[in-house]
Amino acid sequence: MAKLLAFAGSTRKGSFNQSVLHCAADGAEQAGAQVTRISLADYPMPLYNQDEEAAHGIPAAAQAFKALMMSHDGFLIASPEYNSSYPALLKNALDWASRPAPDEPMLAAYKGKVAGIMACSQGALGGMRVLVVLRMLLENLGVIVSPNQKAIGKVDTLMDEKGIITDARALKQLHGLGSQTADLAVRLAR
Ligand SMILES: Cc1cc2nc3c(=O)[nH]c(=O)nc-3n(C[C@H](O)[C@H](O)[C@H](O)COP(=O)(O)O)c2cc1C
Repeated sequence: MAKLLAFAGSTRKGSFNQSVLHCAADGAEQAGAQVTRISLADYPMPLYNQDEEAAHGIPAAAQAFKALMMSHDGFLIASPEYNSSYPALLKNALDWASRPAPDEPMLAAYKGKVAGIMACSQGALGGMRVLVVLRMLLENLGVIVSPNQKAIGKVDTLMDEKGIITDARALKQLHGLGSQTADLAVRLAR
């Protein structure tokens, strides 16, 4: 059984990306995966600074986030597109998780893991440009990113008043992304 960690690059109340992420997580669970859903709001990290790390080590929240990544086979990540790229919140968390403790191998949170990535926005393109750079970032860190990815445009029109995605096509696409990521993790573990 695959263990996937699901997190979004937005901690905004009512985040569209959080909603979309839950659909992919549902799809992964329906495919038999165990999914841990977290919010980066629960792992507040300072902006990465190498002098601070040298003086004080890796902060507890960053350690906890990295430990979660290490204890899972892969990730489901939904990211807003900020100015054609990923938000600082997400990059900062991924940067902290790339820092090894003294007794750890390099990039232990990333190497050999899989990821399913998705984005959404109120715009027509759904944040498809962030997926290009997020894929590149994760692959450079040693993650195998599923060829399937989803950018959901006009997402605000695809949900109910509680912010739950109700559009059948979007649900099918996101469930499929979740289940394929779970399947990829299982195949890789064989
Ligand atoms: C600084 C900033 C830059 C943005 N740049 C883009 C962009 O390049 N493309 C896009 O589709 N939306 C852009 N947006 C709009 C976001 O897609 C929108 O705020 C979205 O709802 C954020 O995701 P969330 O709902 O998960 O918080 C930007 C928003 C902010 C705050």
